[in-house]
Amino acid sequence: MTTVTEHYEKHLAPIYVWMAGGFAAALEAGTAEIEALNLPLHQGAVVLDLGAGFGMHSIPLARRGARVTAIDTSIELLRTLTEISGGLPVQTVNDDLLAFQRHISETPSAILCMGDTITHLPSLKAVESLIELASTELPPGGTFVVSFRDYSVPLVGDQRFIPARSDDSRILTCFLQYEPESVLVHDILHQRQPDGWHTQVSHYRKLRLSPGHLITKLQSCGFNVRREAGMLGMVRLVAQSV
Ligand SMILES: C[S@@+](CC[C@H](N)C(=O)[O-])C[C@H]1O[C@@H](n2cnc3c(N)ncnc32)[C@H](O)[C@@H]1O
Repeated sequence: MTTVTEHYEKHLAPIYVWMAGGFAAALEAGTAEIEALNLPLHQGAVVLDLGAGFGMHSIPLARRGARVTAIDTSIELLRTLTEISGGLPVQTVNDDLLAFQRHISETPSAILCMGDTITHLPSLKAVESLIELASTELPPGGTFVVSFRDYSVPLVGDQRFIPARSDDSRILTCFLQYEPESVLVHDILHQRQPDGWHTQVSHYRKLRLSPGHLITKLQSCGFNVRREAGMLGMVRLVAQSV
């Protein structure tokens, strides 16, 4: 089984910006999502973006005046984030997001884990541990935001084949294979080369998280939780520490 880090390194990171529709479209979507969240952030507030990728949320947050710590296991995506964040207060950290406490030097006002990143964690226990750690680090009024795909109800038959993106020279299709607690995501990439089409397949495991379970866990850790519709059909939970 390919690990998440290997899957990104070998398969997804080199095409991630393309998959997200290009820099301009992705940053526009990230900006719209940050604006919709309307986080109560003062100038210079510290925000952690866990699994930040190339920064589609980190960059809009920094443009709004936050000081962002962007943590990710993909060196390539963090390199891209550094390149495009030119001069903005975004510090990139190559580490496991579960170790985010190592990188806190000031109390954060918000912690974000967006874009289906939380489903990449190895187990439900790890997800619960992340929620507990976030509740420990956030002050009263601090916000923890997670957005993720609800894989709890399995797609069946042809629905399991999902066209992610395509153009004249590249086609990315995902195939979902359900297991009791996780889903194997097979990313099938066709790329046109001078000598014809080449196919690359890689898969990794994502958790089938139930939004209801996460809401209960967040509430038990002292958060008031709002459930919203996130980007691209994702569930977004906005949890405020009381
Ligand atoms: C689906 S992408 C989402 C990226 C970004 N948050 C967004 O909304 O565009 C998931 C990201 O999480 C990172 N990631 C996955 N597991 C991680 C972990 N345990 N620690 C840190 N980063 C992780 C991947 O490298 C990838 O950049």
